[in-house]
Amino acid sequence: VKKVTVRTLRRMKEERQPIAMITAYDYPSAKLADKAGVDAVLVGDSLGMVVLGYDSTIPVTVEDMLHHTKAVARGAKRPLLVSDLPFLVAHLNRDEVLKAAGRLLQEGGAEAVKVEGGKEVIPAIRACIQGGIPVMGHLGLTPQSVHQLGGYRVQGRDEEAARRLIEDARLLAEEGICALVLECVPEELSRRITDAVDIPTIGIGAGGSCDGQVLVYHDLLQYGNDLQPGFVKTYVRMGESALKGIRHYVDEVRRGVFPTEEHAFHLPPETAERLNG
Ligand code: KIV
Ligand code: NA
Repeated sequence: VKKVTVRTLRRMKEERQPIAMITAYDYPSAKLADKAGVDAVLVGDSLGMVVLGYDSTIPVTVEDMLHHTKAVARGAKRPLLVSDLPFLVAHLNRDEVLKAAGRLLQEGGAEAVKVEGGKEVIPAIRACIQGGIPVMGHLGLTPQSVHQLGGYRVQGRDEEAARRLIEDARLLAEEGICALVLECVPEELSRRITDAVDIPTIGIGAGGSCDGQVLVYHDLLQYGNDLQPGFVKTYVRMGESALKGIRHYVDEVRRGVFPTEEHAFHLPPETAERLNG
Protein backbone atom coordinates (compact mmCIF):
# COMPACT_ATOMS: atom_id res chain seq x y z
CA VAL A 1 0.00 0.00 0.00
CA LYS A 2 1.59 3.20 -1.23
CA LYS A 3 1.50 6.37 0.84
CA VAL A 4 -0.71 9.10 -0.66
CA THR A 5 1.03 12.46 -1.07
CA VAL A 6 0.08 15.79 -2.62
CA ARG A 7 1.69 14.50 -5.83
CA THR A 8 -0.58 11.46 -5.81
CA LEU A 9 -3.64 13.72 -5.69
CA ARG A 10 -2.34 15.82 -8.57
CA ARG A 11 -1.69 12.69 -10.64
CA MET A 12 -5.18 11.40 -9.84
CA LYS A 13 -6.67 14.58 -11.31
CA GLU A 14 -4.57 14.18 -14.44
CA GLU A 15 -5.66 10.56 -14.79
CA ARG A 16 -9.29 11.42 -14.00
CA GLN A 17 -9.27 9.06 -11.08
CA PRO A 18 -11.77 10.38 -8.48
CA ILE A 19 -10.31 11.25 -5.07
CA ALA A 20 -12.21 9.93 -2.03
CA MET A 21 -11.73 11.97 1.14
CA ILE A 22 -13.42 11.74 4.52
CA THR A 23 -13.03 13.51 7.84
CA ALA A 24 -11.80 11.68 10.94
CA TYR A 25 -11.33 12.90 14.48
CA ASP A 26 -9.91 10.05 16.54
CA TYR A 27 -7.99 6.77 16.38
CA PRO A 28 -10.85 4.40 15.49
CA SER A 29 -12.34 6.64 12.77
CA ALA A 30 -8.85 7.13 11.29
CA LYS A 31 -8.16 3.39 11.28
CA LEU A 32 -11.46 2.66 9.55
CA ALA A 33 -10.86 5.38 6.95
CA ASP A 34 -7.42 3.96 6.19
CA LYS A 35 -8.70 0.38 6.05
CA ALA A 36 -11.51 1.43 3.68
CA GLY A 37 -8.91 2.84 1.30
CA VAL A 38 -9.71 6.56 1.36
CA ASP A 39 -7.10 8.71 -0.35
CA ALA A 40 -7.11 11.63 2.07
CA VAL A 41 -8.26 12.17 5.64
CA LEU A 42 -9.24 15.59 6.91
CA VAL A 43 -9.16 16.41 10.58
CA GLY A 44 -11.81 19.06 10.04
CA ASP A 45 -12.65 21.77 12.51
CA SER A 46 -16.14 20.35 12.01
CA LEU A 47 -14.97 18.33 15.02
CA GLY A 48 -16.24 21.28 17.05
CA MET A 49 -19.76 20.46 15.93
CA VAL A 50 -19.87 16.69 15.43
CA VAL A 51 -17.55 15.64 18.26
CA LEU A 52 -17.52 18.50 20.79
CA GLY A 53 -21.12 19.66 20.45
CA TYR A 54 -20.57 23.35 19.64
CA ASP A 55 -23.06 25.21 17.41
CA SER A 56 -20.35 26.19 14.92
CA THR A 57 -16.65 25.64 14.17
CA ILE A 58 -15.74 29.04 15.63
CA PRO A 59 -14.83 27.90 19.18
CA VAL A 60 -12.33 25.32 17.91
CA THR A 61 -8.73 26.11 18.92
CA VAL A 62 -5.29 25.10 17.65
CA GLU A 63 -4.98 22.96 20.80
CA ASP A 64 -8.23 21.14 19.90
CA MET A 65 -6.95 20.55 16.37
CA LEU A 66 -3.64 19.22 17.69
CA HIS A 67 -5.31 16.88 20.17
CA HIS A 68 -7.45 15.28 17.45
CA THR A 69 -4.81 15.39 14.71
CA LYS A 70 -2.41 13.40 16.90
CA ALA A 71 -5.02 10.69 17.43
CA VAL A 72 -5.87 10.53 13.72
CA ALA A 73 -2.18 10.37 12.77
CA ARG A 74 -1.82 7.25 14.93
CA GLY A 75 -4.64 5.54 13.03
CA ALA A 76 -4.32 6.72 9.41
CA LYS A 77 -1.06 5.79 7.72
CA ARG A 78 -1.68 5.53 3.98
CA PRO A 79 -4.00 8.51 3.31
CA LEU A 80 -2.76 12.09 3.01
CA LEU A 81 -3.45 13.68 6.40
CA VAL A 82 -4.82 17.22 6.30
CA SER A 83 -5.66 19.33 9.33
CA ASP A 84 -7.77 22.49 9.46
CA LEU A 85 -6.29 25.81 10.48
CA PRO A 86 -8.97 26.98 12.93
CA PHE A 87 -10.94 30.23 13.07
CA LEU A 88 -9.00 33.47 12.51
CA VAL A 89 -5.52 31.93 12.54
CA ALA A 90 -4.98 32.64 8.82
CA HIS A 91 -5.67 36.33 9.53
CA LEU A 92 -2.98 36.70 12.19
CA ASN A 93 0.57 37.74 11.38
CA ARG A 94 3.00 35.51 9.54
CA ASP A 95 4.68 34.25 12.73
CA GLU A 96 1.39 33.20 14.28
CA VAL A 97 0.28 31.45 11.08
CA LEU A 98 3.56 29.56 10.80
CA LYS A 99 3.54 28.68 14.48
CA ALA A 100 0.03 27.17 14.31
CA ALA A 101 0.45 25.42 10.95
CA GLY A 102 3.92 24.25 11.95
CA ARG A 103 2.60 22.68 15.15
CA LEU A 104 -0.09 20.80 13.21
CA LEU A 105 2.68 19.16 11.16
CA GLN A 106 5.45 18.89 13.73
CA GLU A 107 3.43 17.89 16.80
CA GLY A 108 0.20 16.71 15.20
CA GLY A 109 1.56 14.66 12.33
CA ALA A 110 -0.49 16.42 9.63
CA GLU A 111 0.96 16.54 6.11
CA ALA A 112 -0.95 19.60 4.94
CA VAL A 113 -3.16 22.29 6.43
CA LYS A 114 -6.47 23.52 5.07
CA VAL A 115 -7.22 27.23 5.05
CA GLU A 116 -10.68 28.73 4.48
CA GLY A 117 -10.99 31.78 2.25
CA GLY A 118 -9.90 33.47 -0.97
CA LYS A 119 -7.66 36.45 -1.80
CA GLU A 120 -7.70 37.66 1.79
CA VAL A 121 -5.80 34.59 3.06
CA ILE A 122 -3.11 34.58 0.37
CA PRO A 123 -0.45 35.99 2.72
CA ALA A 124 -1.08 33.08 5.13
CA ILE A 125 -1.06 30.52 2.32
CA ARG A 126 2.14 32.00 0.91
CA ALA A 127 3.85 31.88 4.31
CA CYS A 128 2.96 28.21 4.78
CA ILE A 129 4.02 27.13 1.31
CA GLN A 130 7.32 29.04 1.58
CA GLY A 131 7.86 27.24 4.88
CA GLY A 132 7.33 23.86 3.24
CA ILE A 133 3.80 23.32 4.51
CA PRO A 134 1.39 22.14 1.80
CA VAL A 135 -1.93 24.02 1.85
CA MET A 136 -5.37 22.89 0.81
CA GLY A 137 -7.73 25.76 -0.06
CA HIS A 138 -11.42 25.96 0.85
CA LEU A 139 -13.90 28.17 -1.04
CA GLY A 140 -17.67 28.52 -1.29
CA LEU A 141 -19.40 27.92 2.00
CA THR A 142 -16.64 28.55 4.50
CA PRO A 143 -18.20 27.60 7.85
CA GLN A 144 -15.80 29.76 9.90
CA SER A 145 -17.54 32.76 8.27
CA VAL A 146 -21.06 31.53 9.08
CA HIS A 147 -22.02 34.80 10.80
CA GLN A 148 -20.74 36.84 7.88
CA LEU A 149 -22.55 34.61 5.37
CA GLY A 150 -25.78 34.67 7.37
CA GLY A 151 -26.09 30.91 7.76
CA TYR A 152 -25.03 27.70 6.06
CA ARG A 153 -26.19 28.33 2.51
CA VAL A 154 -25.18 27.66 -1.09
CA GLN A 155 -22.59 30.19 -2.32
CA GLY A 156 -21.82 31.70 -5.72
CA ARG A 157 -25.38 31.74 -6.98
CA ASP A 158 -25.35 35.15 -8.62
CA GLU A 159 -23.02 36.11 -11.43
CA GLU A 160 -20.86 38.45 -9.39
CA ALA A 161 -20.33 35.93 -6.60
CA ALA A 162 -19.67 33.18 -9.15
CA ARG A 163 -17.01 35.28 -10.90
CA ARG A 164 -15.41 36.11 -7.58
CA LEU A 165 -15.22 32.41 -6.72
CA ILE A 166 -13.60 31.50 -10.03
CA GLU A 167 -11.11 34.35 -9.59
CA ASP A 168 -10.29 33.25 -6.02
CA ALA A 169 -9.80 29.66 -7.18
CA ARG A 170 -7.36 30.84 -9.89
CA LEU A 171 -5.43 33.01 -7.46
CA LEU A 172 -5.11 30.24 -4.87
CA ALA A 173 -4.03 27.76 -7.55
CA GLU A 174 -1.34 30.22 -8.69
CA GLU A 175 -0.08 30.38 -5.12
CA GLY A 176 0.58 26.65 -5.32
CA ILE A 177 -2.10 25.11 -3.09
CA CYS A 178 -2.15 21.31 -3.30
CA ALA A 179 -5.94 20.95 -3.70
CA LEU A 180 -9.10 22.99 -3.28
CA VAL A 181 -12.24 22.14 -1.33
CA LEU A 182 -15.42 23.58 -2.86
CA GLU A 183 -18.29 23.55 -0.38
CA CYS A 184 -21.93 24.13 -1.30
CA VAL A 185 -21.52 25.72 -4.71
CA PRO A 186 -23.66 25.11 -7.80
CA GLU A 187 -22.50 22.22 -9.98
CA GLU A 188 -21.94 24.48 -13.01
CA LEU A 189 -19.56 26.62 -11.00
CA SER A 190 -17.53 23.75 -9.55
CA ARG A 191 -17.20 22.32 -13.07
CA ARG A 192 -15.90 25.65 -14.37
CA ILE A 193 -13.37 25.86 -11.53
CA THR A 194 -12.31 22.23 -11.91
CA ASP A 195 -11.60 22.86 -15.61
CA ALA A 196 -9.84 26.15 -14.92
CA VAL A 197 -7.22 24.94 -12.43
CA ASP A 198 -4.49 22.26 -12.55
CA ILE A 199 -4.91 21.32 -8.91
CA PRO A 200 -7.57 18.82 -7.79
CA THR A 201 -10.92 20.18 -6.61
CA ILE A 202 -12.64 18.27 -3.84
CA GLY A 203 -16.33 18.92 -3.53
CA ILE A 204 -18.83 18.75 -0.70
CA GLY A 205 -22.29 19.74 -1.85
CA ALA A 206 -20.65 20.80 -5.11
CA GLY A 207 -21.96 18.17 -7.50
CA GLY A 208 -20.22 15.40 -9.39
CA SER A 209 -17.80 17.37 -11.55
CA CYS A 210 -15.09 17.90 -8.96
CA ASP A 211 -11.92 15.80 -9.02
CA GLY A 212 -12.86 14.33 -5.65
CA GLN A 213 -15.43 14.29 -2.89
CA VAL A 214 -15.27 14.81 0.86
CA LEU A 215 -17.92 14.06 3.47
CA VAL A 216 -18.01 14.44 7.23
CA TYR A 217 -17.59 11.06 8.95
CA HIS A 218 -20.61 11.54 11.20
CA ASP A 219 -22.79 12.55 8.25
CA LEU A 220 -22.10 9.64 5.93
CA LEU A 221 -22.39 7.20 8.84
CA GLN A 222 -25.30 9.10 10.38
CA TYR A 223 -23.70 8.99 13.80
CA GLY A 224 -24.86 11.34 16.54
CA ASN A 225 -26.50 13.97 14.35
CA ASP A 226 -30.21 14.26 13.71
CA LEU A 227 -30.24 16.85 10.94
CA GLN A 228 -28.48 15.93 7.69
CA PRO A 229 -27.56 18.58 5.11
CA GLY A 230 -29.30 17.91 1.78
CA PHE A 231 -26.08 17.07 -0.07
CA VAL A 232 -25.18 14.21 2.27
CA LYS A 233 -25.74 10.61 1.37
CA THR A 234 -26.13 8.33 4.35
CA TYR A 235 -24.35 5.03 3.80
CA VAL A 236 -24.91 3.44 7.20
CA ARG A 237 -27.05 4.31 10.20
CA MET A 238 -24.37 3.94 12.83
CA GLY A 239 -26.20 6.01 15.47
CA GLU A 240 -29.22 3.76 15.19
CA SER A 241 -27.30 0.54 15.72
CA ALA A 242 -25.28 2.10 18.55
CA LEU A 243 -28.48 3.20 20.30
CA LYS A 244 -29.98 -0.23 19.86
CA GLY A 245 -26.89 -1.87 21.35
CA ILE A 246 -26.71 0.46 24.35
CA ARG A 247 -30.43 0.04 25.09
CA HIS A 248 -30.05 -3.72 24.94
CA TYR A 249 -27.12 -3.56 27.39
CA VAL A 250 -29.02 -1.33 29.85
CA ASP A 251 -31.99 -3.68 29.70
CA GLU A 252 -29.87 -6.79 30.32
CA VAL A 253 -28.06 -5.22 33.27
CA ARG A 254 -31.40 -4.24 34.82
CA ARG A 255 -32.85 -7.70 34.31
CA GLY A 256 -29.71 -9.44 35.58
CA VAL A 257 -29.16 -11.14 32.23
CA PHE A 258 -25.67 -9.68 31.78
CA PRO A 259 -23.09 -10.74 32.84
CA THR A 260 -23.34 -14.50 32.72
CA GLU A 261 -20.83 -17.21 33.63
CA GLU A 262 -18.91 -16.71 30.39
CA HIS A 263 -18.10 -13.09 31.27
CA ALA A 264 -16.88 -13.86 34.82
CA PHE A 265 -13.39 -14.58 36.20
CA HIS A 266 -12.77 -17.20 38.89
CA LEU A 267 -10.26 -17.88 41.62
CA PRO A 268 -8.44 -21.27 41.64
CA PRO A 269 -10.73 -23.66 43.61
CA GLU A 270 -8.21 -24.08 46.53
CA THR A 271 -7.92 -20.31 46.98
CA ALA A 272 -11.68 -19.93 46.89
CA GLU A 273 -12.04 -22.71 49.50
CA ARG A 274 -9.47 -21.18 51.84
CA LEU A 275 -11.10 -17.76 51.54
CA ASN A 276 -14.46 -19.26 52.45
CA GLY A 277 -13.09 -21.44 55.23
O1 KIV B 1 -14.25 20.76 8.82
C1 KIV B 1 -14.62 20.04 7.86
O2 KIV B 1 -15.13 18.91 8.03
C2 KIV B 1 -14.43 20.54 6.50
C3 KIV B 1 -14.98 19.74 5.37
C4 KIV B 1 -16.46 19.76 5.38
C5 KIV B 1 -14.44 20.17 4.07
O3 KIV B 1 -13.86 21.59 6.35
NA1 NA C 1 -13.41 22.75 8.27
